[in-house]
Amino acid sequence: MTERDRERMRDFYDDLGDREWSRLEDSPRGRVAYQVHRRFLEHFVQPGDRVLEVGAGPGRFTFDLARLQARVAVTDYSSVQLDLHRRHLEGTQAETAVDSRALLDICDTSRFAGATFDVVLAFGGPLSYAFEESEAALKGLLRITKPGGYVVASVMSWLGSWRYFLPSALEDARVVGDDAFDLILSTGDLRHSQTSPVCQMFRASDITELSVKCGAELVAMSSSNWASLEDPQVLGELETDSDRWARFLEHEIAACAQPGALDGGTHILFALRRP
Ligand SMILES: C[S@@+](CC[C@H](N)C(=O)[O-])C[C@H]1O[C@@H](n2cnc3c(N)ncnc32)[C@H](O)[C@@H]1O
Repeated sequence: MTERDRERMRDFYDDLGDREWSRLEDSPRGRVAYQVHRRFLEHFVQPGDRVLEVGAGPGRFTFDLARLQARVAVTDYSSVQLDLHRRHLEGTQAETAVDSRALLDICDTSRFAGATFDVVLAFGGPLSYAFEESEAALKGLLRITKPGGYVVASVMSWLGSWRYFLPSALEDARVVGDDAFDLILSTGDLRHSQTSPVCQMFRASDITELSVKCGAELVAMSSSNWASLEDPQVLGELETDSDRWARFLEHEIAACAQPGALDGGTHILFALRRP
């Protein structure tokens, strides 16, 4: 990962500002994604756990960590996102769960002693911004996790994003040319794109491979989302009926965790246990 890639990513999130907060609430699809992530996280956090949140953004999941009675060290690579985090939590009960806020690049966790955290959380793709350093970054996250503790993360899905974003992918192919587009589809590396935000996309098999290389146990995976990536109008109508919506969510969360669905969403969630 070059310095330019890093700056590009930081500038992107600096400019995105508070729109990052609404990503998981301004559409039925986003609201389902939030529920899938939240429910996944609940399996791995116990009351009193010390959690490092990497790429915390404006704090959506810090509220959940606080609800789960964890103590949270909040970090992000963007100072704009860290400021937003402070503003979103100020005056709320969740703020009392925050032990610290600091800038941190997921590729450099050397400031923390080994085995410091019960859980390291990197939701919403920070690992997708490590590119060639993703294995080293993940090893770094595992190093600071206590034995028996968990690294919980989500990354952009390579195959699912291609399917879901097909119209914009084809537009990108027109702009960058077929050779560059072939590179995107054969590497998952969106640095070859000119119309999408840059990131490294992953397949479920890449996550399995990474976990082996890092010597960690892959204890759970899920896609986000599955059926809810289909017709937004149908989904919107379904959401108006709270009982049917609650039932749909249960089926959706269960479907996302099925092996046949893992590559089908826009994101892949996973949990690694440090032996
Ligand atoms: C899509 S947002 C996710 C925010 C939050 N975790 C969530 O899921 O709602 C990705 C976050 O990762 C941060 N980020 C980008 N590059 C990073 C890096 N190299 N190290 C740590 N965080 C990074 C961004 O600033 C942004 O806040």
